[in-house]
Amino acid sequence: MKKMPNIIDVAKRAGVAPITVSRVINKSGYASEATRKKVEEAIAELGYVQNSLARGLRIKRTNTLALVVTDITNPFFTLIARGVEDAASKAGYTVIYCNTDESEEKEISYSNILVQKQVDGVLLVPACSSPQSVRFLGQNNIPVVLIDRRVPDIHTDVVRCDSEEGAYNLVKLVIELGHRNIVTISGPQGVSTSDDRVAGYQRAMKEAGLGDNLNVLYGSFTQACGYDLANQALALNPRPTALFGTNNFLSIGIMKALRDAGMRVPEDITVIGFDDLPETMVVDPILTVAAQPAYKMGVLAAELLLKRLSEKMLPENQEIILPTEIIERQSSGPPLG
Ligand code: RIB
Repeated sequence: MKKMPNIIDVAKRAGVAPITVSRVINKSGYASEATRKKVEEAIAELGYVQNSLARGLRIKRTNTLALVVTDITNPFFTLIARGVEDAASKAGYTVIYCNTDESEEKEISYSNILVQKQVDGVLLVPACSSPQSVRFLGQNNIPVVLIDRRVPDIHTDVVRCDSEEGAYNLVKLVIELGHRNIVTISGPQGVSTSDDRVAGYQRAMKEAGLGDNLNVLYGSFTQACGYDLANQALALNPRPTALFGTNNFLSIGIMKALRDAGMRVPEDITVIGFDDLPETMVVDPILTVAAQPAYKMGVLAAELLLKRLSEKMLPENQEIILPTEIIERQSSGPPLG
């Protein structure tokens, strides 16, 4: 079997010292443009590939991060992944992507795999409120930054949005339009973004003296669930005049159910949602939303993790909380009558 070229072979071919080849590969230390060009030509001619695991074993780094999300089909997480990728690649890191389908079991399984792969750090959207995988990664000296969601009693870095305040402002907007009977269609209890958005709804309603009108239907963050719970809400008596979907997929399901029920939005019923929608998923009329800066969350989370890896004196348990943006569009209006 042909011997794989090593760093010595590259140095000989380029006519430089092995340390110079290492400097060019790792972008560390000085190398003239001419030297860089000679080394890169030698690497290409020999087909040299750096043994990242061996390199990782030597300096305990593989220059690899992992991003673990709960639903890779959700454009919110795609934007987060883009932000993580841009920040990580700028620092010379590769990103491994994992999808847990909101399953704690899959999350724990991935945590074991990531330890075996010796990733340098993990960016995690936790599937639920269990601290198990974060604790396991920490025991293996792999720093974790939580994105989007919190885990109670866990001390680690977090980058998220202020879901409670965003939901409060969104519901307050429709209360000020005159709505009194507003039903929230939510993701699962125990997930911090669900609980925080319900808490914001409850605060806005109670502040307006509508504490007796509270009504939350819990499900999962899926379009199918949004559809089914919207039909449940339409069967309530009295029927609500506004529906609040606590994430993008729930809102799309709600809009489809209202269309199939022959209801006009906002003439017959108002709809508000959490998360803005990309062009490819725009519903008609376009939604009044609390938009999350998903891309920025990804960038800030990756930058915080990279800082955690390089600055040992960084204060523990950083929490970055970003505001949402309320965008009023055609899906909200005053109640009938
Ligand atoms: O659509 C994604 C958003 O809804 C995220 O905040 C996620 O946590 C879910 O709540």
